[in-house]
Amino acid sequence: MRVIEAEDYQELSNLAADYFINKIKENPEITLGLATGGTPKGTYKKMVEDHAKHGTSYRRVTTFNLDEYVGLGSDHPNSYHQFMETHLFKDIDLPSTQKHLPNGIALDINKECIEYEQAIERSGGIDVQLLGLGSNGHIGFNEPGTAFETRTHVVELAPSTRQANARFFNHADEVPQRAITMGISTIMQSKEIVLLVSGESKHHALKELLIRQSDEGFPASVLTKHPHVTIIADRSALSGIPVNG
Ligand code: GLP
Repeated sequence: MRVIEAEDYQELSNLAADYFINKIKENPEITLGLATGGTPKGTYKKMVEDHAKHGTSYRRVTTFNLDEYVGLGSDHPNSYHQFMETHLFKDIDLPSTQKHLPNGIALDINKECIEYEQAIERSGGIDVQLLGLGSNGHIGFNEPGTAFETRTHVVELAPSTRQANARFFNHADEVPQRAITMGISTIMQSKEIVLLVSGESKHHALKELLIRQSDEGFPASVLTKHPHVTIIADRSALSGIPVNG
């Protein structure tokens, strides 16, 4: 795993956006895996600015998001569908048929999971997957204890995850109990992974990831087994952890 240290959140966002923009320029038909949460917001903002200023085109790009809450439709303000519309999709030229998120209100949730996997496969697989890091080590919504073999599946959210995400809702009780998430094995099948880690609150999780043997008690530790992972972390997340450049 290569670790790139950014001065602060702004620099992290610039570095991550540039990374993705270059990948899109190299391969305009790239399939991207996208993430939600507070961490990638700045990255998406820079990608939107770049699109407006330099015209980087997403017309032939395909995207798959990591996860969606069960029970929230695509027009629900707290759905990840809406998050992506607000922070990225509405301001770039990505055709709607090429953006994919799991359907949180599918009648048959298990069928939805299978079909999501099939859609990823049909697109030729994910070229670069963007990830954030949960403070308990979750990636996507794969909570501690998730088997490394999992494909897209339904999960019960850990109380700490619901609490962490309550800031996006009017009330903590409104945070759904379940989500659909790409599985660990789905994520690991991406050709390349970029993990963003920002802020002091992620320091402990980042440290665990960098020192820990791979084990299912800490989902992100699986990344140590992937051949092409770049971690972009800011100084407050790293705070004293030596980086390998
Ligand atoms: C959320 C998301 C993850 C995200 C993580 C960290 O629950 N499902 O995909 O990476 O938690 O979020 P944040 O960037 O807001 O800290």
